[in-house]
Amino acid sequence: MDYWILVVDDDVSNLTVANSILSSESMRVSCVKSGAAALKFLSANKPDIILLDVHMPEMDGFETLKHIKENENTADIPVVFLTADSDNETETRGLKAGAIDFIAKPFVTEVLLLRINHIVELTRLQADLAHEVEVKTREVINQQKKVEKMTVQIVMALSGAVDAKDTYTNGHSARVAEYSRRIAELAGFSKQEQDDIYLIGLLHDVGKIGIPDAIINKPSRLNDEEYAIIKTHPVLGEKILERIEEFPRLVTGAKYHHERFDGKGYPDGLSGENIPVEARIIAVADAYDAMSSKRAYRGVIPQQQVRAEVEKGKGTQFDPVFADIMIAMIDADTNYDLREK
Ligand SMILES: [Fe+2]
Repeated sequence: MDYWILVVDDDVSNLTVANSILSSESMRVSCVKSGAAALKFLSANKPDIILLDVHMPEMDGFETLKHIKENENTADIPVVFLTADSDNETETRGLKAGAIDFIAKPFVTEVLLLRINHIVELTRLQADLAHEVEVKTREVINQQKKVEKMTVQIVMALSGAVDAKDTYTNGHSARVAEYSRRIAELAGFSKQEQDDIYLIGLLHDVGKIGIPDAIINKPSRLNDEEYAIIKTHPVLGEKILERIEEFPRLVTGAKYHHERFDGKGYPDGLSGENIPVEARIIAVADAYDAMSSKRAYRGVIPQQQVRAEVEKGKGTQFDPVFADIMIAMIDADTNYDLREK
């Protein structure tokens, strides 16, 4: 046993007895004769356990214990009260104040040693366990962060694959995701919600992977038949993303971003707040990016014209709340930076 024990007692004969019992078991023993001396000792030393007399002149055991527990450097050292009283009140008060146990005086050698052994072992086990839990928790958190990071990277890679297919809308998905996140932020959504909407935005057009390149990259306006094919991309997106069971809202964004607030959109003709909120946000961001990017058959639409179109679509194509936020973003964007670079 290599414990270090501080014994605090105003009665020198008790100190002597304790010292001889404990030293015989090769424990390291320090003895002090008052509460004040104990606190001074503890300011520079950290024993494994403190045996503290309850009745002492000036600073008694309770007050000494209070100081020990208030100091973060000593609060975790187990304190055992030494008392000649066996009354319940003293014991209750001591335990409430943070003492871990009582040892009666005069000392019975065997009891003293067993108690000390028991308490120090228990305290060490607790400390080890707390440390172990902390280490494991940190590992789990790191692992979780890694998985989250990888999820974002996979989503970005997939969204890049969609954008690579479309030579005229370079970076469309990434911009829609950014605008959608900003709209969510300005609408007061939580950080987590903003991050989710960003990912949902990145994959909103993933169904375009299933549309023939000749239609996607057609340098002139689409005919009715081609337009009908393009219009299947939300449902194709749904089919692709429904496998990601852990993030069902990816499907929502892909499937419903062409719904209109007035119910005249596709594929399901949902209206108003029946359209999931992430899809209503993406719808505004998507239309904004389409207008502020150049196409094979036209250049970039001037900012004020884009603004007027968003304004016009309020309540018909767009949820008016998110359209107003988009308009505020346009008005704040004095250099027309929010567009394809
Ligand atoms: Fe789309």
